[in-house]
Amino acid sequence: MSASRRRMAGLMAAESNRSERAWSRRGPSEEILSTSESVGYRDRIVLVTGGNSGIGRAFVDRFVTEGASVVACGRNESTLQALKATHPSVEARRCDVASISEVDGLAEFVSRRYGRLDVLVNNAGVMEQVNMLAGDVDAAAITREIAINLAAPILLVRPTGR
Ligand SMILES: NC(=O)c1ccc[n+]([C@@H]2O[C@H](COP(=O)([O-])OP(=O)(O)OC[C@H]3O[C@@H](n4cnc5c(N)ncnc54)[C@H](OP(=O)(O)O)[C@@H]3O)[C@@H](O)[C@H]2O)c1
Repeated sequence: MSASRRRMAGLMAAESNRSERAWSRRGPSEEILSTSESVGYRDRIVLVTGGNSGIGRAFVDRFVTEGASVVACGRNESTLQALKATHPSVEARRCDVASISEVDGLAEFVSRRYGRLDVLVNNAGVMEQVNMLAGDVDAAAITREIAINLAAPILLVRPTGR
């Protein structure tokens, strides 16, 4: 291994150790957002899918604190309303990320409202523990998982490139 490759491998190992320590100390959303100390999220346009509850909601709370303009989506009207009540500045939108037309509508909204998207927190994901090649998995379930995990994030970041 060349000297520069060795140096790079050493740096990557050090960064990995640092990240693992920070993660266990502070938890996922704080770890990821700790970069805000150097990058800053003020006036950034952030979209959090599933931002109305759970981990996504924690991301929303933190991004609001950081001064970002936040759009959050989910399906449950009451948790969307609760989010809006706590953070009136947040655009809490109903969107099922399994629905291509609803995702397209959300992307259009962000594009029209802000003209760009800086950060996508692709939080509303699914991971079915099934072998999709086994033959007994419903084709609709395969299509749904691909729509949520692959098509939705692509469609949501696409407007910036239009
Ligand atoms: N918690 C864990 O230990 C863990 C571990 C590994 C991975 N994850 C992943 O991390 C993500 C968040 O986990 P969590 O524990 O916070 O889950 P959670 O409490 O179930 O929250 C999921 C969020 O996503 C929204 N959501 C779910 N399906 C959606 C859909 N089709 N369209 C739009 N929004 C949808 C939900 O809102 P609505 O119900 O209103 O739609 C909710 O706000 C998930 O992708 C999960 O698979 C979690």
